[in-house]
Amino acid sequence: MAKTVGILTGGGDCPGLNAVIRAVVRSSDAAGWDTVAALEGWRGLVDGNFRDLGPQAVSGILPRGGTIIGTSRTNPFNLDGGVDKALQNFADRGLDALVVIGGEDTLGVAERLYREHSLPVVGVPKTIDNDLSGTDYTFGFDTAVTIATEAIDRLHTTAESHNRVLVCEVMGRHAGWIAAAGGLAGRKAGDAPHLILFPEIRFEREKFLARVRQCVTDHGYCVIVVSEGARYADGKFLAEAGTKDAFGHTQLGGVGPVVANMVREAFGYKFHWAVADYLQRAARHIASKVDVDQAYAVGKAAVQYAVQGRHGVMPAIKRLSSRPYRWKIVPVPLAAVANVEKTVPRHFITADGYGITAACRRYLEPLIGGEDYPPYKAGLPAYARLRGKSVRRRLNTPYLLK
Ligand code: F6P
Repeated sequence: MAKTVGILTGGGDCPGLNAVIRAVVRSSDAAGWDTVAALEGWRGLVDGNFRDLGPQAVSGILPRGGTIIGTSRTNPFNLDGGVDKALQNFADRGLDALVVIGGEDTLGVAERLYREHSLPVVGVPKTIDNDLSGTDYTFGFDTAVTIATEAIDRLHTTAESHNRVLVCEVMGRHAGWIAAAGGLAGRKAGDAPHLILFPEIRFEREKFLARVRQCVTDHGYCVIVVSEGARYADGKFLAEAGTKDAFGHTQLGGVGPVVANMVREAFGYKFHWAVADYLQRAARHIASKVDVDQAYAVGKAAVQYAVQGRHGVMPAIKRLSSRPYRWKIVPVPLAAVANVEKTVPRHFITADGYGITAACRRYLEPLIGGEDYPPYKAGLPAYARLRGKSVRRRLNTPYLLK
């Protein structure tokens, strides 16, 4: 009887997710295995909500953003009987391995289920935040880099022409990788962005305001990139949305207006703020070529590991050279990845704490080397119609609100 690999996607979406799903389905089909999706992340395994996926179901999904099998931030370890139900459903559905595509939290669950219950899992590193250890980067991050860099590059022209202080808020949770990427837009000294506020560097109001004033004096305008996870010296976030997710993380967002108003109150400068928000991780039409290539490669490798019975590992991206950019896939134990947050190292941030160094630029630069556009029709991406059914959409379920 054919063996079956399960697949699930958890946490925030990002371009490339469907590319991984497609790679997993096609690779397992080629290996003579069936693929079954647990819908909406770990919730699908806990509820026993599955769907068969064959090559037909993934045809045409490559240029689509999001994930065709749904996602959630469900933590089975926080649900009454959640782990037992997940294990039981895994067995009842006749799964032989489970490919788990996610970031720190989703893979943290995979690692624990492997370590404590011998669940045969293979992880796939996904998150725009790039905060997973063990891999050069995570797929999704590359596209967020492209978008953040481009957004700053666009915004600075208005700030300059209109003599404004312009604040751009980017995502990234506790890691300033996307904020750092904004720095790529500045090619020479004095270029925007003039100041980057990293979560890794504690925020000092007076020092920051003095830098803004100096910048406006020198250039007549000031562009600031602020990471949603920017914190004060006592560890408190500059802004939080007031809720927590199932993994206990504070929901972030809203720091852009906080910083902009700080500047307005101090100096009365004309200001504006912009929030890149889901634009960084949504629509797939500006996904970068590297992102899509790496998504395919990790998906394919994950199936190889599953078929070989190599569990508790994750196909990671290992950089071989930066110029030209070359990389390969290597297996790393999930234990080395789960719950180890990779933040921006100090030597990637300038001594004053407000910019990126040449080393950081070298690390990030290969990622903005090319796009992977879908076909366009009348000025909009022409997405293929799905042959398989997409997941039923639900809002405000108890799992999400926990
Ligand atoms: O982890 C990816 C991410 O986009 C973070 O950068 C951000 O803090 C969070 O997800 C937003 O969460 P949600 O998907 O619940 O809005």
